[in-house]
Amino acid sequence: MVSPQFLPTPVAAAGGTGASTSTSPGTARTLDDAYGRTARDLRVSLTDRCNLRCTYCMPAEGLDWMPTEQALSDDEVIRLIRLAVESLGVRQVRFTGGEPLLRKSLEAIVRATKALRTDEGVAPTTALTTNALGLAVRAEGLKAAGLDRINISLDTTSPELYAELTRRDRIRDVYAGIDAALAAGLTPVKVNAVVMPGINEDGIEDLVDFALDKGLQLRFIEQMPLGPREHWRRADMVTAGEILERLGRRFTLTPAAEPRGAAPAALWDVSDGARSGKLGIIASVTHPFCGACDRTRLTTDGAVRSCLFSSQADEVSLRDLMRAGASDAELADAWAGAMWRKKPGHGIDDPGFLQPERLMSEIGG
Ligand code: 5AD
Ligand code: SF4
Repeated sequence: MVSPQFLPTPVAAAGGTGASTSTSPGTARTLDDAYGRTARDLRVSLTDRCNLRCTYCMPAEGLDWMPTEQALSDDEVIRLIRLAVESLGVRQVRFTGGEPLLRKSLEAIVRATKALRTDEGVAPTTALTTNALGLAVRAEGLKAAGLDRINISLDTTSPELYAELTRRDRIRDVYAGIDAALAAGLTPVKVNAVVMPGINEDGIEDLVDFALDKGLQLRFIEQMPLGPREHWRRADMVTAGEILERLGRRFTLTPAAEPRGAAPAALWDVSDGARSGKLGIIASVTHPFCGACDRTRLTTDGAVRSCLFSSQADEVSLRDLMRAGASDAELADAWAGAMWRKKPGHGIDDPGFLQPERLMSEIGG
């Protein structure tokens, strides 16, 4: 049975003139697109580097990191976040990568972000998507810097499979990171698990057990075609429907009462009689939520991507504009223009679908 929560949100009719309105800094304006969506959630990739090599994300070796001068400096990244929050209506900022903990200035960037005020007069919500390696010693500091939320990637509870999947034997560091995040009050601590056919699908019940024990909000994610090319086939993927059916044999699942809004996860209450918690299912492929998408993205090298699945030709480099001396108003115009051209959906299920050229680690999750 498919829950109504999986039904895609209808795309509103086109309206407004979006990019054509000109801006002066401080003027209220939003990142609208031609399909009636407004981007309020900024995802910033702070580095393309990672200390893991997840098989679905990166090749084992031979991946060249971006030269430092191509990446945005701290001042540049903070300038763009300030512009987004103060002049373009962004209300939530999520830091991603690669692995954002590898950026030494992460705490300073979080602190600078939290000091901003949105168009509602409050500090933006700040969030981090991380593999949690090294989080154990930084969770307190990140909380103190103003971090509100954290999503930790963990696809299995088996140390052997974790080592195989990430090509590094580091699951103990992830567990330590999770405990530190809980202790620091970065709650609810969310754990993201990508479900891969024939690889970790037999361990999804163990992940639910682990999450119920620890009080984590687990979210299962349908695998999207974003990693090394040979890794994804539509016919093989494990669908949200299959995940739910499988879990339904061991756990009681009921749709949660919370309204979903622009959140990608359909939320379920999960219980095994003794314990209960919340479970999210992110059906990016089989039930896309593009119609409700409120994301705008900045790549490590300072390009706006309106969608994870944009082509590189659709990107607009704010870095190049900044380095050529653009004013805030010019940057805001360029950002708004890039978002106005956002496509209605990713089209993964379309016959003509083309996988993006960039790896997930450069775009940011
Ligand atoms: N499909 C779905 N999710 C993915 N992630 C990385 N690659 C993919 C993919 N191909 C997830 C990671 C992490 C977040 C950054 O995105 O597991 O939780
Ligand atoms: Fe690193 Fe995340 Fe990619 Fe794994 S999925 S290699 S943790 S960036």
